[in-house]
Amino acid sequence: MSPKWAGQCADCGAWNSLAEESAASPRRSGYAGGASAADVADLASVAISEEARLDTGLGELNRVLGGGLVKGSVVLVGGDPGIGKSTLLLQVHASLTAASRVLYVSGEESLGQIAQRARRLAVDAHGLKCLAETAVDRILATAVVEKPDVMIIDSIQTLWLAELQSAPGSVSQVRECAARLVRYAKEQGVSVFLIGHVTKEGGIAGPRVLEHMVDAVLYFEGESGSRFRILRALKNRFGAINELGVFAMTDRGLKEVPNPSAIFLSNQSERGPGSTVMVTREGTRPLLVEVQALVDQSPLANPRRVAVGYEPNRLALLLAVAHRHAGVAIYDQDVFVNIVGGIRVSETAADLPVLLAVHSSFRNRAIGTHTLAFGEVGLSGEIRPIPNGEERLREAAQHGFKRAIVPAPNKPKKERFGELEVIGVQTLTQALDALQA
Ligand code: TYD
Ligand code: MG
Repeated sequence: MSPKWAGQCADCGAWNSLAEESAASPRRSGYAGGASAADVADLASVAISEEARLDTGLGELNRVLGGGLVKGSVVLVGGDPGIGKSTLLLQVHASLTAASRVLYVSGEESLGQIAQRARRLAVDAHGLKCLAETAVDRILATAVVEKPDVMIIDSIQTLWLAELQSAPGSVSQVRECAARLVRYAKEQGVSVFLIGHVTKEGGIAGPRVLEHMVDAVLYFEGESGSRFRILRALKNRFGAINELGVFAMTDRGLKEVPNPSAIFLSNQSERGPGSTVMVTREGTRPLLVEVQALVDQSPLANPRRVAVGYEPNRLALLLAVAHRHAGVAIYDQDVFVNIVGGIRVSETAADLPVLLAVHSSFRNRAIGTHTLAFGEVGLSGEIRPIPNGEERLREAAQHGFKRAIVPAPNKPKKERFGELEVIGVQTLTQALDALQA
């Protein structure tokens, strides 16, 4: 749709294809309020164009995007300050520049600071187009001249539009600036990365208001102490969600970790009480992840239940199941659960290992370095099967695990996994008994 006549269609580039359509004269009666009818399409007759994808130069980022950056898509990259968003996108800038026109717009840093980062990353700075600007109108005016294929905005919170009264970073500024950029991206077929900071408090007022406007939302996670960074797709119109990309922050920027399977294990040789390993499958590949729990006598009337990297409500539910169906009485104990390495696990397959870690700390009895577990725990204490059991077991066997405690239906009938002994359990009690043996 175009408000005025134009010789060329802005969408498809065809000439003289615009037809005038006059709005019906307003008739304030009837439920349609005088609107004229729109065309309805038969889905079978809609032409499907294979979306063109750009290689970002980072395999892990391509994977999270669903196979590369889609032309004309808008990708929001969120994460805590200092996690490495600017670093990642400067690396993307450098590798995309070989084949495409890229414009990096920074509202946070001066050109000098960006140049310094580029030197630190040891990328070739020739041909890297950068702009230090915060006014959206000027950014778009520059883009019209520069005609980039990809534009990187660092960050959306620093941009502002003069016609809005509120300060940069406020909800209305963020939303309105992003809307302008999205419209530009769609009309011109330019791919846009929007960087957004998420504050420690959750930052609902920040970039999350944009989640419905953009095509993909990627979140950068990681512990500040750990060098691993996880990029996760929370929304993706062109790929699978919850796909993970794993990077390591080095002194020369982010390096991909293409086989991340065992990096989320703490690297002590013996695992003491309160620690269990599980195989999670966040995204499309199995990861060995360690869960640690600490259970201690509580001085409080309401003992604390704290979970890092895990859903606290789920933990409370699991503790109730353990009490009611396995007689594990920890209502007067503080319970702390931590997923090692700063990864967040939301799969129900983590239920059993979390409970086993809690139980192990409570009884002060180690589970054993070569034992792992996965499985969903139901409200009546039953252990329910989870998807892709065999793939998880295969991964565990490859890393030298000797014993796996899994839901009975996930125990393979035929396949052997080397030295891995697979114990199928039906209830939580059976799982706890299996550990005594
Ligand atoms: P940055 O990309 O500026 O974070 P964000 O844009 O998300 O706020 O990353 C900042 C951190 O990364 C900073 O603590 C320094 C560290 N870093 C490295 O360890 N190695 C590097 O090569 C670079 C460029 C940064
Ligand atoms: Mg930054």
